[in-house]
Amino acid sequence: MFKMGRNDRCWCGSGKKYKSCHEKSDEANLSKYLSDGYPIPDRSLILNPDQIDGIRKSAKVSIAIMDAIGGMIGEGVTTNDIDALVSKMTAEAGGIPAPLNYYGFPKSCCTSINNCVCHGIPDDTKLKNGDIINVDVTTILDGYYSDMSRMYTIGEISEDAKNLIERTKEMMYLGIDTIKPYMPVAEIGNAIHDKADEYGYGVVRALCGHGVGLDFHSEPTVNHFRSNAKSMILVPGMVLTVEPMINAGTWDVEVLEDEWTVMTRDGSLSAQWEHTVVVTETGAEILTI
Ligand code: MF3
Ligand code: CO
Ligand code: CO
Repeated sequence: MFKMGRNDRCWCGSGKKYKSCHEKSDEANLSKYLSDGYPIPDRSLILNPDQIDGIRKSAKVSIAIMDAIGGMIGEGVTTNDIDALVSKMTAEAGGIPAPLNYYGFPKSCCTSINNCVCHGIPDDTKLKNGDIINVDVTTILDGYYSDMSRMYTIGEISEDAKNLIERTKEMMYLGIDTIKPYMPVAEIGNAIHDKADEYGYGVVRALCGHGVGLDFHSEPTVNHFRSNAKSMILVPGMVLTVEPMINAGTWDVEVLEDEWTVMTRDGSLSAQWEHTVVVTETGAEILTI
């Protein structure tokens, strides 16, 4: 399992041989899924405690940036101003902003306003009273990636916008709370989608959460919508994001000519929150908190 040799050191970081550590429980927990044809993670997706610690340190930088944005954002501030802060704070911490030059992305963070779902590109747009905005920051520190986003509000926002933001946050935490080791990753999306249906919101399908930590985007794909596909089994030591994009209207989106900016197709408001989490022996621990 996970292509582990029986005499290799166990993936859990105990320092023991696999055969005298997790081999038996892995087999017990995973064999029914294996025979049912569920994908089982490759060994490279199981991180050891030192690597998790590296991601935690990276996350400290991302968190400090998000907090600082909370202190400077307001009417008249441009998304370029936010980008400049991300760029400066990341450099001062000795890190690299992962978005910059990622498949040609031109800036250090994503800034997505109102009916922009995600991947908005910072520019000289001034924030105005009533806007809601998602800022998505991914820091690389010593090779470790931490990916997170938050919503911010400008001045007086509508009751509908307030509800969408709070409920989307609730759905992110619901997805995280759903995580148990040896569970198919699709359960996260099933829980989120059920809740979104209760609220009458659309769950974006075109973009998803992902494995993260040693790379920006790796397996598994974390869908936020309902699916009965045989999805990858989560095991302790896997690191992934939960980052539902929830629309006040329908789930459908369109991509602008810049080939990055994703908008709701019906023009409705969209919200998103994102955390990086590690699967543990009992559930999930949030690293970006
Ligand atoms: N941070 C985004 C995510 O949550 C990815 C942004 S890709 C970029 O996965 F190139 F637009 F930065
Ligand atoms: Co992400
Ligand atoms: Co992100």
